[in-house]
Amino acid sequence: MERISAPRGTQDILPPDSNLWTQLEETIRHNGERFVYGEIRTPIFEHSELFARGVGQDTDIVSKEMYTLIDRGGRSLTLRPEGTACVARAFLQQNLANLRGLPQKLFYIGPMFRYERPQAGRYRQHHQFGFEVFGDPQPEMDAEIIAIAISIFRALGIRQFEVDLNSIGCRECRPVFLAALKKELAPHLMELCTDCQRRYQQNPIRMLDCKKETCQQMLDQAPHPVDFLCLQCQTHFIRMQKCLSALGFSFRLSPRLVRGLDYYTRTVFEIVSPELGAQNALCGGGRYDDLIEILGGPPTPGVGFAGGMERAMLILQENQAPEPLRLDVYLVPLGEEAYSQAMLLAMRLREAGIRTELSYDRRGLSAQLKVANRKHARFALLLGEQELKEGSLLLRNMESGEQRTISKSEVLQSISSVLAV
Ligand code: HAM
Repeated sequence: MERISAPRGTQDILPPDSNLWTQLEETIRHNGERFVYGEIRTPIFEHSELFARGVGQDTDIVSKEMYTLIDRGGRSLTLRPEGTACVARAFLQQNLANLRGLPQKLFYIGPMFRYERPQAGRYRQHHQFGFEVFGDPQPEMDAEIIAIAISIFRALGIRQFEVDLNSIGCRECRPVFLAALKKELAPHLMELCTDCQRRYQQNPIRMLDCKKETCQQMLDQAPHPVDFLCLQCQTHFIRMQKCLSALGFSFRLSPRLVRGLDYYTRTVFEIVSPELGAQNALCGGGRYDDLIEILGGPPTPGVGFAGGMERAMLILQENQAPEPLRLDVYLVPLGEEAYSQAMLLAMRLREAGIRTELSYDRRGLSAQLKVANRKHARFALLLGEQELKEGSLLLRNMESGEQRTISKSEVLQSISSVLAV
């Protein structure tokens, strides 16, 4: 029979790597706690309309990369390609502004789905951790968001990264920039790639991050959003840079950084790592002051970021070997009579916090001790006919080979005290 493999662009996470994943999730949650953000868990699928409106119909994510299905009721649903629109939807639907007050600070961890061409660091199912704030318009909040990302990477031991920063203005000043950009490029339209020719009509700002060399050269010379910022956007951008400097963070101004989602206003940033390959963004984010309105809510500023967990893992795996599963006691019943007692004993040991594995292998003692060795058990606990009769057990230190008889009534105490050494 032909075997079935996992869909392209998805990954199995196996032990002991899953331990590193747990460590990564714990670091994110600790930072959530320290910065006092609450964890939110939204559904894996949403109405497709949410992303079309929130992320933008003309973005690559929405136009090319969504996993969309029609359910049995005829509704168009989409596996979430990103978290911000989902959290914004929940913020509005759950009436968090009125029930809990502003600002609302939330974080999330979970899988996202994009139909992209898989390569190292880019998958069709990937995991993101994200932090979002609703209801705070201040530039200090933008800096706090970057500080959270940096705190997480530092705590993970990721030291090599750079912050790329830009401002793409607001609904007042961006149209002025877009008009200037289009005017400048109009005579050169045919020299641009076909994607940029399409973007010129549909979503001109996205031309700025075209990766094709001929377009890049032309766009380097073209107008940039920072040159057209209105006074408020300029002040915001300068104040947030001051905060970043006060925090001791270095950053690079990247006048062509625009990001692939339409909801951004003012600040946009990415943190990139030279330790990653072509897909070098560890995280990305920015301000989205119009998103809540686009989704039908009252004007509510927002800012946030999301990081790619597989990308963080690629660096973590380089830096540290994952810890293997630890086994304190390998419990070996010898003879059929011993099994039921051994099961009860194993339950007691586990309830006392002792990592215990019970062998159901019917082979002889030496084969079983080999297994205990292979699993790096600290102790083997043997329950044979003799011990059963005497109400005792044989405790063997797997490293030294020392053995001693312990009484059944004191088993918990004896094992706990030897494990504490
Ligand atoms: P994004 O830049 O599209 O932003 O994704 C965030 C991060 O997720 C990226 O920097 C990258 O590390 C990771 N990532 C994205 N796509 C993939 C993929 N196919 N495979 C592996 N990793 C990937 C957003 O999604 C925004 N929602 C971020 C945000 C939050 N902006 C404001 N708040």
